[in-house]
Amino acid sequence: MAAVKKTVLIGGGSGFIGTALTNALKSKGYFVRIVSRKPGPMNLSWTELEKRGLPENCTAVISMAGQNVFDVWRRWTPGFQQNVWASRVLTTRALAAAIKHAEVKPKIFISMSGVGYYKPSDTEEYTEDSPGGDFDFLSRLAKDWEDASKLPSSCSSSVRRVIIRSGIVLGRAGGMINNLYWPFYFGVGGPVGTGQQFFPWIHIQDMVDLIIYSMETEKVSGVLNGVAPQVITNKQFAQAFGKALWRPAFIPVPRFILNAAFSEERAMIMTEGQKVIPKRTLELGFKFKFPDIDSTCKSCSSVMYADQ
Ligand SMILES: NC(=O)c1ccc[n+]([C@@H]2O[C@H](COP(=O)([O-])OP(=O)(O)OC[C@H]3O[C@@H](n4cnc5c(N)ncnc54)[C@H](OP(=O)(O)O)[C@@H]3O)[C@@H](O)[C@H]2O)c1
Repeated sequence: MAAVKKTVLIGGGSGFIGTALTNALKSKGYFVRIVSRKPGPMNLSWTELEKRGLPENCTAVISMAGQNVFDVWRRWTPGFQQNVWASRVLTTRALAAAIKHAEVKPKIFISMSGVGYYKPSDTEEYTEDSPGGDFDFLSRLAKDWEDASKLPSSCSSSVRRVIIRSGIVLGRAGGMINNLYWPFYFGVGGPVGTGQQFFPWIHIQDMVDLIIYSMETEKVSGVLNGVAPQVITNKQFAQAFGKALWRPAFIPVPRFILNAAFSEERAMIMTEGQKVIPKRTLELGFKFKFPDIDSTCKSCSSVMYADQ
């Protein structure tokens, strides 16, 4: 008799990271179900999750749903902020509740978060143990999102909980590179403002590998900084991406334009940055395939790259 495939349930798994993760999980022999607002052969709705609970044989639950903060068509109104908050916090709570009620528990609950948890600074260095989560909308969002993944004591001893505070995920198939590709390709790309702000980043392949490493490595639990070990500035990113595309990349994007387009609080993701170190991630034995920005940008410059 063929072995029953283990199922991984991904809330918000239809997006940029979720699609790359789903492909990688399938190639490793897992069965993937996605909790989505849209119907699909592998999808279940959030209402179905609430009514029927986790699918059979569920070994891992991953929370990565979230309204795109940088939707250019949406103004940064209180209503949109509520949408950004609810799409992360309420969905993560729904997954935690499904784990709580499951007769057979999954081995692990992984929830995404962001480096926006840490206060932007030109001098501070942040590891997973550093304080944060309490100074602006995005940091409080990260804190609430992380808290939403807490499990009651009845399951916290049997279900490992991992939180990945992700930097900007770089890959050709989506995210920031998707927005920057054509401006850089036509030679009008460049740093944001002075470009001196830190630029915490991770290659999509490493993000996917880190999630799977957490799933498959018993000793991994708690908060992990999902950022590459090389600390760079925004200007260094722009130079590396320009070089990878054989284009100049020195036309700066003025801060005030981004502030006007996105509002200052939201634009801060680009106009300011944090120096984030993946201390626990490395201590727990994770090996980055793309530890430096040059190899990352090179892979993001080609449509042939495997994260499609
Ligand atoms: N990409 C990055 O650089 C980065 C960095 C740090 C953190 N993160 C976080 O990691 C997660 C995944 O990132 P991603 O780049 O893969 O995001 P993405 O491509 O925008 O996908 C996120 C998914 O969330 C679901 N979603 C969107 N709006 C929603 C809403 N209002 N209510 C419920 N679900 C909603 C969508 O699934 P359906 O349409 O199928 O429902 C979508 O496929 C996000 O929460 C993001 O904030 C990403």
